[in-house]
Amino acid sequence: MKFDLKADLRLSNDATSAIKTIDEFFKNANKTFLNHGKGKNAIVKEWNLNKDLLSLHIISEKYFRAHDALLQIKNKLSEEIGKKHKIGVRATNVREYEIEFELEKKPLREINIPFAELKIKGLKAILKLEDTSEEFLRKNYVDRMIRLVKEKILNQYYEGKKEFWHLIWQSEKKEPIWNKDPTEEMIKLGWVKQGPTKGKWFYGPQLTAILRTMERIAVEEILEPLGFQEIMESHIVPFEIWLKTGHLEGMPAEIYYVAEPASRDIEKWSKFIDLVKITKEVPYEELKKNLSLPNAGICYAQCPVIYWFFKGKTIAEDSLPLLVYDKTAISCRYESGGRHGIERVDEFHRIEPVYIGTKKQLLDLREKLLERYKYVFNEIFDLEWRMAWVTPWYLQQAGKIGMEENEMGTIDFEAYMPYRGDRENSKWLEFQNLSILGDKYTRAFNIKTQKGELWSGCTGIGLERWSIAFLAQKGLDPKKWPERFKEYLSELPEGIKFL
Ligand code: SER
Ligand code: ZN
Repeated sequence: MKFDLKADLRLSNDATSAIKTIDEFFKNANKTFLNHGKGKNAIVKEWNLNKDLLSLHIISEKYFRAHDALLQIKNKLSEEIGKKHKIGVRATNVREYEIEFELEKKPLREINIPFAELKIKGLKAILKLEDTSEEFLRKNYVDRMIRLVKEKILNQYYEGKKEFWHLIWQSEKKEPIWNKDPTEEMIKLGWVKQGPTKGKWFYGPQLTAILRTMERIAVEEILEPLGFQEIMESHIVPFEIWLKTGHLEGMPAEIYYVAEPASRDIEKWSKFIDLVKITKEVPYEELKKNLSLPNAGICYAQCPVIYWFFKGKTIAEDSLPLLVYDKTAISCRYESGGRHGIERVDEFHRIEPVYIGTKKQLLDLREKLLERYKYVFNEIFDLEWRMAWVTPWYLQQAGKIGMEENEMGTIDFEAYMPYRGDRENSKWLEFQNLSILGDKYTRAFNIKTQKGELWSGCTGIGLERWSIAFLAQKGLDPKKWPERFKEYLSELPEGIKFL
């Protein structure tokens, strides 16, 4: 790694009379605070004073970024010439900054990043920045730019690769009652209707009864026995939260954005109102003028807002593990091409339990959760299903690649969907997941306890997914449903007859 930086410091006054002090300062700087031994050195190669303009050329290696050296020089020099000559440094402008670094892999296609010109020759990358502000350097954009170049190259190698998937457990085969697509059949029966907008559904009384039964089973058979407490969160998530969880960089194309009115003042809306009254259409152009830029989105997963609630808190040891769940916030994901039935939708209902505790507590909890889940899916639903380690959702949703299993990672629960074909060749439906995330979010949200480190995790229970997995195997006729399930729901509401 090599850094080559040319900067101008604008001084508060002509410093010609201070040239001796400045000369000594730089001679000294190269020997003292810029010199940390091999690989950790920065050197002022050249400097030039033209009245109140001090130009510098700094080069450095790996561990001491030239821009850090510049910031230190600025502070120390201000002190020195301030004391002796009452001259200060007014502004810093980095004219040119070249950063050369090694790559592990050659890019497969051309890449570029904002703020810099990028040149790659073999395994050597050069970033060229021009006219960069001090703030830019202070905020450490440079390091992130280097990381981004490496990440983009790595991503090129992962594209098109098979997803990480490692089977953990599999139930026995179960003979399905039928092999129809439940959504199609329910549409025919009038239990559900698509719309009113893309990927959303209106659930009639029958399907609502099934979804609510799923919710009740999850709460009564899993969450209450394990001591989870219910909380209710907002389902509008400000960008600040997603900046911390990584969703904003990972999922920007799937977010349903929320915009506030630019003003609550009805006067400001009068033209909009008039246009609606006259045209009976939506005056989009006028609407645009009355909206603020979105600063939030509709819930994507419920856990980020739960972490926000605990942000900066120190949790008493005897409150650990902290077990809460939300079943209020509705999640939205802009799915575009992938929509199918009520199993892949833009808007869905999920219970999301979140757990925070010591590593040991969470590993124990995972065993208990798995035991309860197995009980529900085997004994109550009588499902054919399996569990596998998959790419953790927290990497996926942050637009990253990778895998983790054992202590940390995500387990997907998948159900056989008879309507999709045979067991071996069809895609099973992910109807549930369970993750332990290590200290990823406890660190991001600064959640602590009296002593030791806190881990966290979550396990999403999608009501649509539970229902469709069950219905795909067990059919729509309650008489044919498993006995234990019938203890929860044995008859469906009559519904509404249309003429
Ligand atoms: N946060 C998880 C997800 O989005 C749910 O547990 O999949
Ligand atoms: Zn979650």
